Amino acid sequence: MKALDLGISRRTLLVGAAGVAVGSSLRIPAIAQGAPIKIGLMLPYTGTFAKLGQFIDNGFRLYVEQKGGKLGGRDVTFVQLDDESKPEAGADNMNRLVGREKVDLVVGTVHSGVAMAMVKVARDTNSMLIIPNAGANDATGPMCAPNIFRTSFSNWQATFPAGKAMYDAGIRNVATITWRYTAGAEMIGGFTENFTKQGGKIVEDLTIPFPEVEFQALITRIATLKPDAVFAFFAGGGAVKFVRDYDASGLRKTIPLYGAGFLTDGTLEAQGAAANGVKTTLHYADNLDNPANIAFLKAFKAKTGQDGDIYAVQGFDAAALYDIGLKAVGGDHKARDKMVAAMGAAKIDSPRGPLSFNKAHNPIQNIYLREVRNGRNELVSVAQANVDDPARGCRLT
Ligand code: PHB
Repeated sequence: MKALDLGISRRTLLVGAAGVAVGSSLRIPAIAQGAPIKIGLMLPYTGTFAKLGQFIDNGFRLYVEQKGGKLGGRDVTFVQLDDESKPEAGADNMNRLVGREKVDLVVGTVHSGVAMAMVKVARDTNSMLIIPNAGANDATGPMCAPNIFRTSFSNWQATFPAGKAMYDAGIRNVATITWRYTAGAEMIGGFTENFTKQGGKIVEDLTIPFPEVEFQALITRIATLKPDAVFAFFAGGGAVKFVRDYDASGLRKTIPLYGAGFLTDGTLEAQGAAANGVKTTLHYADNLDNPANIAFLKAFKAKTGQDGDIYAVQGFDAAALYDIGLKAVGGDHKARDKMVAAMGAAKIDSPRGPLSFNKAHNPIQNIYLREVRNGRNELVSVAQANVDDPARGCRLT
């Protein structure tokens, strides 16, 4: 699939709140108390996840703008790096931000494989990292650390509630389909754990390499298997294509399509009527009727001209979380222990609903069952309230 053109060339490093392109030779003076806080946005700005990265970026900047361009009373400057969703480049890119660019905080990324490379560098260098999307279970499991937070979800958390929701809807046999990489395996894993615990059966697990989108053979296989329903994880450009291909195959009416909410979040404009009736679980729904969500969607639209989605919310909340930490230390980010303690204890009135954090710094949050109706991910019910990832293997207390 062709990369979305966001006007950002591949591997471009941009510096400055206004996003003015400058060479990487730019030297920024050592951060002194009172100097701007320097934030590295390491996100995909090209490829199948390009729109996701851009929305996280916009959500983060929206929060900062609402605080008069400051976090914790400090001015903010940004370094923007396109990680291209390439795990093999993840460590080098992260090292560049914390080493050469000397950022105070890295916000990134979308892809679980890239995020795990970032987590390793964050641990080795004791750098502050907020993950605004990637769900890799290990980031808040065995690789948890005081300096690592997540404002999104664990892969397990996003899909575990779907197992019971689908069983309760009378579904007994399911075929799963996803990309062959960490997030795909873990999203299917969370769903399968709960669905089989209820008594459901997985008839086949279908996979395709990331980020390929040649789905035809797998859709033909689904038609042969005739499961009660399909459970899928794809996101971004891949999700757009899968939902359209599934609809074009004619299966949508006979074999209902379910999935992790990423299948239909930030994608509905491009999916059109092909997405009608698709049911998913996620920590967000477009029509959540809380004041924070209503205000957020209005402000995001005013800033970008686009409808906010879960990625924008996760970016917005990443900024809110760091703001809480910086405020607790009067802007002195070197007071790390106190800052981390405040972030860990944060209770955020998020557009998604109440957001707090477990000992591994993964969100505790509601997971909603949604259905696509009239081009929106509408709330059906709370699939599971206050879902807390088990943080398996995390040794923080
Ligand atoms: C992931 O790789 O963890 C991932 C990517 C895209 C999503 C969700 C999770 O929408």
